[in-house]
Amino acid sequence: MNISDVDQSLRDRIENLRREIHYHNYRYHVLDSPLISDYEFDQLMLELRQIEEEHPDWITTDSPTQRAGSVPSEKFIKVRHPAPILSLGNAFDADGVRAWFDRILKLDERVIQADFVVEPKIDGLTVVLHYRNGIFVQGATRGDGEIGEDITANLRTIRALPLRIPISVDGPMPPSYLVVRGEAFITPADFEALNRQLEERGEKTYQNPRNTAAGALRQLDPTLTATRPLTLLTYDVVDGDGSLSESHTETLGMLRALGFPVIDEEHCDSLDDAIQAYNRLVERRDQLPFEADGVVIKINDLGLGENLGVVGKDPRGAIAFKFPAREVTTTLMGIGVNVGRTGVLTPYAILEPVEIGGVIVRQATLHNFDYIADKDIRIGDRVAVKRAGDVIPYVIGPLTTARTGQEREFIPPEVCPACEQPVEHLEGEVAWYCVNSACPAQLIRNLEHFVSRGAMDIVGLGIRIVEQLVDSGFIKDVADLYSLKHEDLLGLEGFAEKKADNLLQSIELSKNQSLPRLVNALGIRGVGEVGAGDLARTFSDLDMLSDASYDELQTVEGIGPNIAQAIVDWFDRPANKAVLEKLRAAGVWPRMMSSELEAEGPKPLDGMTFVVTGTLADFTREGVKDFIETHGGKVTDSVSKKTSYLVLGENPGSKYEKARSLGVMVIDEEGLRSLVISN
Ligand code: IVH
Repeated sequence: MNISDVDQSLRDRIENLRREIHYHNYRYHVLDSPLISDYEFDQLMLELRQIEEEHPDWITTDSPTQRAGSVPSEKFIKVRHPAPILSLGNAFDADGVRAWFDRILKLDERVIQADFVVEPKIDGLTVVLHYRNGIFVQGATRGDGEIGEDITANLRTIRALPLRIPISVDGPMPPSYLVVRGEAFITPADFEALNRQLEERGEKTYQNPRNTAAGALRQLDPTLTATRPLTLLTYDVVDGDGSLSESHTETLGMLRALGFPVIDEEHCDSLDDAIQAYNRLVERRDQLPFEADGVVIKINDLGLGENLGVVGKDPRGAIAFKFPAREVTTTLMGIGVNVGRTGVLTPYAILEPVEIGGVIVRQATLHNFDYIADKDIRIGDRVAVKRAGDVIPYVIGPLTTARTGQEREFIPPEVCPACEQPVEHLEGEVAWYCVNSACPAQLIRNLEHFVSRGAMDIVGLGIRIVEQLVDSGFIKDVADLYSLKHEDLLGLEGFAEKKADNLLQSIELSKNQSLPRLVNALGIRGVGEVGAGDLARTFSDLDMLSDASYDELQTVEGIGPNIAQAIVDWFDRPANKAVLEKLRAAGVWPRMMSSELEAEGPKPLDGMTFVVTGTLADFTREGVKDFIETHGGKVTDSVSKKTSYLVLGENPGSKYEKARSLGVMVIDEEGLRSLVISN
């Protein structure tokens, strides 16, 4: 082989790698049905990166390696859209929708026979995606509908966005020029997870998924966008060459076949059916994987829709039928302060109870003290409150025009509301902390975490008993659990011989838990299950971990300067040193075995994927996820053919029907437990 042959075979390899990676990425992020493991995927990426490093001139903008984020830009360049990016007229009830129908019927009598498509109206950000010869070349914001801003580099970081189409070798060829419209957003579940992570690190949490998505899309530095869980659904073709579709369903079919993530639509033969479809979606609103503020009813025949024209910026051929608002105003009666496990103080609003979308809301999050000051929220204010999907209700802001002068400014506490010790502010963080490790509020949270499933897994020790133990003074730190006596428990309300025996037995059993679990259980800020496992594999017992220096800790993958400092500080605190000595004395001192250092043994749920729907009796959403993951399984949001089991609770959502139609096995929580025991 001469040099050019070698080059050619490498070029073929690089092309194959890119094609495979794009396809597997699509299976994972668009179809939710991966064909290979994360490890195998990473190996493909690694090989591609290596070849590209050796041949930087071969890198193309559509290479999967180019998603991670390129160099920051100074500002966004303006882009003129190829056709106006129109908005939608609104209807707030079925009469409003019928009035729309009557109006357009007067303009074109063919409307009487029209069929419709009903889609959820996603509360995200409109994006306009340009493809030339199947390559994603430009992406823009909506802007004023005529001119938007070029956010191509940011959009490339969204895994669900195809960098080239068709995504599979057997897909249809795309038109040489195609402009697609979609909505970028962050799912409520990803949003809550992001906020939990930020809170753990003492950083500012975000207000709501939409703001967070908007901020991420308008980041000048795409590497920051890449760290935000943005995703995408498309629903329209704005422009293109060649023969485009005649109906909206055909457009969606084409987008799907090309490999785009496409919104779930419902085809309806009549307006009445469309209104029924709306009613069904209102019911399922909380189960949608995005926040929707209504549905869009669209005339399916694109020619007919076009002929109806536009009023202002709203096409007559479609209408937004809004869901009942989940934003209300109420009075802020007070501001409470919670103390979290890591001592973070979080303010919350105490509201005059108000109904939002069928749920009575009494409390709402106020994020952090800066938020209250920035928004000038005062006690006694009328405030706007929003409850959206699974996102915790939050205060949007005050209605300053409704002020009477009686409102009071809120002054953040200088001492912890639970233990009255002075609170501290860490350099560079927004959060205030109570650093007293004997603080009862923290102790309760700490104990709750210590005994939880991913940690020491002490069965039968729920929050009520944790509170009883702290209130009665038997427990002053987590290690005191191991010196609890039978007679201590008998003195507590609700405890008889048997219950006390069982609990003491569970506590005894937990002495055998592994080092990763104990490290996780200690509740060091920023150290969760994964970090605890990594630390335990490097420092094989608590003596070694407590002796590790700030620099040594940072040699562990995933442990950055902030977490390293938090670990050093934790082991330096005299109260924590005392806890460790008590644990050692009680025999709670696991060491990593050399076999464990290699890899953990097989777990009963290894290789299985679970989806959970409905309310479970004994588990919270987080709890069941913990349980499944601790035993080696994976939890995903949507049912696909790859789902091993659907775990069914009370009032299940549409996932149940989907599981049945795909032949996925359905079990209840007993069934889930038995998988762990019998395997
Ligand atoms: S159709 C001419 N369909 O809602 C086409 N819009 O005011 C008009 N939106 O910002 C849009 N989900 O980005 C359409 N399934 C959907 C949508 C949707 C969300 C957004 C759209 C626009 C707003 C309409």
